[in-house]
Amino acid sequence: MASAPAPARGAWNSRVGFILAAAGSAIGLGNIWRFPYVVGENGGAAFVVIYLGFVFLIGAPVMIAELTLGRRTQRNPVGAFAAIAPGSLWQFVGLLGVITGVGILSFYGVVAGWTFGYFLKTLGGSFSHTMTAEQSAAVFTGFVSNWLVTCGLLLTFLLLTALIVWRGVSDGIELTSKILMPVLLVLLIILAARAVTLSGAGPGLRFYLAPDFSKITPQTFPTALGQAFFSLSLGMGAMITYGSYIGKRDHLVSAAGLVCLFDTLIALLAGLIIFPALFHAGLNPASGVGLVFQVLPPLFATLPAGQFFGAAFFLLLTIAALTSTISLLEVPVSYLIDEWKWSRHKAVAVTTLGTLLLGLPSALAFGAVGWLSQLPGAGIDFLTLMNIVFGNYSLSVGSLLLAVFVGYRWGVAAAAEEIEQAGARFGLRPVWAFLIRFLCPVAVAVIIIYIVFTGNYF
Ligand code: PHE
Repeated sequence: MASAPAPARGAWNSRVGFILAAAGSAIGLGNIWRFPYVVGENGGAAFVVIYLGFVFLIGAPVMIAELTLGRRTQRNPVGAFAAIAPGSLWQFVGLLGVITGVGILSFYGVVAGWTFGYFLKTLGGSFSHTMTAEQSAAVFTGFVSNWLVTCGLLLTFLLLTALIVWRGVSDGIELTSKILMPVLLVLLIILAARAVTLSGAGPGLRFYLAPDFSKITPQTFPTALGQAFFSLSLGMGAMITYGSYIGKRDHLVSAAGLVCLFDTLIALLAGLIIFPALFHAGLNPASGVGLVFQVLPPLFATLPAGQFFGAAFFLLLTIAALTSTISLLEVPVSYLIDEWKWSRHKAVAVTTLGTLLLGLPSALAFGAVGWLSQLPGAGIDFLTLMNIVFGNYSLSVGSLLLAVFVGYRWGVAAAAEEIEQAGARFGLRPVWAFLIRFLCPVAVAVIIIYIVFTGNYF
C-alpha cells in the first residue's frame, strides 16, 4: 500500500517542523478560549481531572492512529480510508471529517476574528483602568453585536488563513508554526506568572485545581470528551492530513506523545491565567463563550503595563488560532487536490468562500440578528450550536469510527507495522492495541448513546 505520493504533495522539511506544526494545529482557541469556559461551566477542577483522563487514555491513542493512517496512505482523510478499504463505505468517515473541518472553521473564524479585534482594541487603549467587570461585559456585547465588525473580522481572518495555506505545506504552514509557537509559550508563561500572584488568586486556584467531585453531572462526560478531541484536533482527519506529510523515519508515537503533552500544558497554563484573574475580579466562571473577552481586559487595565500585557495576550490568541485554522482549511484543500485533482489555489479559493458563507450566521449570532442569537426551540445561539454539533459530536463520532477502522478493519498489526518501520520501537504496542480496540470505541459509544437516549444534547 506504500503508494508513491503524487508529485504535487507537500512534505515537512524537518521533524521538529512537523511537531511544531501538529502542536500548532492542536494548540489554539480550544486551549485558551474554549477550555477555560467549559471548565468554568462544568464545575472546575473535577472536570479538569476527567478531561486529563480522556486526553491520555482516548485522545493520545486516537492521535497515534490518525498520524499512522495518514503516513501509510499519504492521502487526505477520504483518500486514506479509500486506500485501505477501497470501494467501501469507510470513505464517508473521511468525508464527514472534511465537512466537519469546514463546519468548525466557520465558527472558529468568527471567534478568531473577535480575538484579532480585541488585540487592536487593547492596543488602542480601549480598556481604561477604571473599568468595572460590568462595563467590560457591555463592551463585549456591543462589539460582538456589530455585524459590520464581526463579519469584517471573519473575512480578514479567513483571508489570512487562506494566504498561508495558499503557499503550501512547508513554506506556509511549517514556517509560520516554527516562528509563532515558541513566542506563544513564552507569552503564556509570563501571563500565568502575573496572574497567580494577584491578590485573590487563591479561590481561583482552588476552583481550578482542587476537585469537588459532587460538581460532576452527566453532561460533564460528553463535554470533557468533546473538548479533548477538539483540543487535540482529532476526529476530523487533521492529523491524518498532517501525518501524510511526515517522513517514514520519524517516530510517530513520540511525536503524538509530545503533541498531547504540549497541548495539555498550554490548556492548563491558560486556566492558570484565567481563573485567578476571574476570581480576582469577582466574576462568574460560567460566563460562556464571552469568558476570556469579558474577564481579561479590565484585569489587564489594572496591571502595570497592562495595555502591553493585554495586547500581547490577544495577539497570542490570534497566533494560536491561526496555526489551528490553517490545519482546518488544509483538510478540505488536500481532499480537493488529491481526489478532485484541483490546483491548490483553486481549492483554497473555493473552500474559503464556502466557509465564509457558512460563517456569516455565526458572526451574526450575538445580537446582530435576533433569531440567530436565540435559536427558536434550541435556546442557544447559532455559534454555540455549531460549536456543539461540529466541535463536540461530529468529532466524537469521527474518532469512534476511526478507532473502529484502525482497530478492526485495517488492524492493529498492520498499523503497528507502519509505526515500527525504519527500526522504530513501539514498546507500548499492546497498551495502544487495547485502548484503540476496546477502551476508545466503548467509552465514546457509551457517551454518545447516553446523549441520544436522554436527549441532553446541549
Ligand atoms: N485543536 C484546535 C484548537 O484547540 C482546533 C481544531 C479542531 C483544529 C479540530 C483542527 C481540527 O484550537
